Amino acid sequence: MTQRIYIFDTTLRDGEQAPGISLNQREKVEIAEQLARLEVDAIEAGFPVSSPSEFEAVKSIAKNVKGPVICALSRTDRNDIDWAWEALMFAERPLIHTFISTSEYHMKYQLKKTPKQVLEMARDAVAYARKYTENVEFSAMDATRSDPKFLYEVYAAAIKAGATVINVPDTVGYAVPDEFAVLVEGIMNNVPGIEDVMVSVHCHNDLGLAVANSLAAARVGARQIECAINGLGERAGNCSLEEIVMIINTRKDATDLTTGINTREIYQASRLVSMLTGYNVQPNKAVVGDNAFAHESGIHQDGVLKHRETYEIMQPEDVGLVESEIYLGKHSGRHALKTKLEEMGFYLDDNGLERAFIRFKELAGKKKEVAVKDLEAIALDEIRTLEELFQLEYMQSSSGTGAIPIAAVKLSRENKGFEATSTGDGQVDAVCRAILKAAKVRAKLKAYQVQAITKGLDAMGDVTVKLDIEGHEVVGRGVSPDIIEASARAYVNAINRAVQKGLMEKKKLARQARSTSAAKKPAAKKPAAKKPAAKKPAAKRPRK
Ligand code: KIV
Ligand code: ZN
Repeated sequence: MTQRIYIFDTTLRDGEQAPGISLNQREKVEIAEQLARLEVDAIEAGFPVSSPSEFEAVKSIAKNVKGPVICALSRTDRNDIDWAWEALMFAERPLIHTFISTSEYHMKYQLKKTPKQVLEMARDAVAYARKYTENVEFSAMDATRSDPKFLYEVYAAAIKAGATVINVPDTVGYAVPDEFAVLVEGIMNNVPGIEDVMVSVHCHNDLGLAVANSLAAARVGARQIECAINGLGERAGNCSLEEIVMIINTRKDATDLTTGINTREIYQASRLVSMLTGYNVQPNKAVVGDNAFAHESGIHQDGVLKHRETYEIMQPEDVGLVESEIYLGKHSGRHALKTKLEEMGFYLDDNGLERAFIRFKELAGKKKEVAVKDLEAIALDEIRTLEELFQLEYMQSSSGTGAIPIAAVKLSRENKGFEATSTGDGQVDAVCRAILKAAKVRAKLKAYQVQAITKGLDAMGDVTVKLDIEGHEVVGRGVSPDIIEASARAYVNAINRAVQKGLMEKKKLARQARSTSAAKKPAAKKPAAKKPAAKKPAAKRPRK
């Protein structure tokens, strides 16, 4: 009988752990809503104890996103579990996911715990989480490098304590498919109570085998696959959602598996995640890369024209890839833009729509035809824009043969204006320097990339920058028909993310602390300030 595979998406948790990614609350909710349209079975929304903003984002997803199970991660600490529940409690179907490492490497060198202590911590965490909800997932981190006998014991204890999902992570992407299938089969055959719970797998892609390993496990009985859009995640990433789903969809005959995914939402999900995270999709990426359905050689083109199936195993429409049609022109009004964007799945608030409209009009004035991809880029750029932080009000730059490139910019934040001018090695450099000056931010450019959104010389430019701000890598992205403006927007976006992360604030505090200690003033005795009443859960938050 064909087996249904449950798709557990971890783009917002493991995916967001990829270097440089820092999504704000609104962006996370936007992605979660797209995941709901994709009809994933579960969304791992984040790790609430890791920061106040992460907590708020998980809470907002739990409150607003309907359909999938909403999951929050916690270590085996009770404090973590309290925070996870506090964030999740408004979800229709909450799931607490608790984990602890079981391999010798992790227990001995990282946790500094004995196997007995680890087993006890796992048992306690699951039992504690079950007090809050009847849906609890337990993961034995680094399962693929753990002693299988110990693994059986820990899983058995977790099930006895009330775990409803048992997850087998290949945390360091070390497994190969046959071996991973044997491990999962061993768990299915040796863990008491395993027949009453869902067996899940979570594979990393360090050796490029995350999808193959997940498929091998599903073929021996794992019922849930943890994966991420565009394969995002720690290091080389996680099992790619679009790849595993399209393998199952395209090769039902070979796999005898099925999912509940609405595959027509895959492309939109991939674009949204790429634009909001600043992680570009490689052109030859399976399923969602720009070339995934492009036939270059004459023989292939000839074959496809005669009969599509000669060289196409999937249809572009199956993953939601529609040819760029011309939608709107320079006479279209606000209402037409709003309606079209909503048809495309973008719901902007009034301010966002107004800004998108101004940019659409500018573009329509420059280009004869505004394509779907242009509208999509503008909408995504507006979703990215954080209203309460810096906005680019204007920029102007000039250069010429023998002339020194010079730029002037104005940013605004909370109704205040910040202007600056700068020279640079080129116009992009001058504008970006001026932006840093206006925002009073020190940053080093680590990477700069520009791509064209559509074909032709009038195409919109899509710029991604990676900045080092106060020792942290921050990614920013911006689009505009003018690549100098797109670069400026990308810089402003990166600065906004750094402000949101509190990087500048930390620096300021450190500076203040240094100057206070340098002055060596005797400490003035102040009456002790009254502590505000502690709110449960206790505010002990480690960094992610
Ligand atoms: O890779 C891993 O082991 C994880 C766990 C938290 C499931 O991400
Ligand atoms: Zn992981």
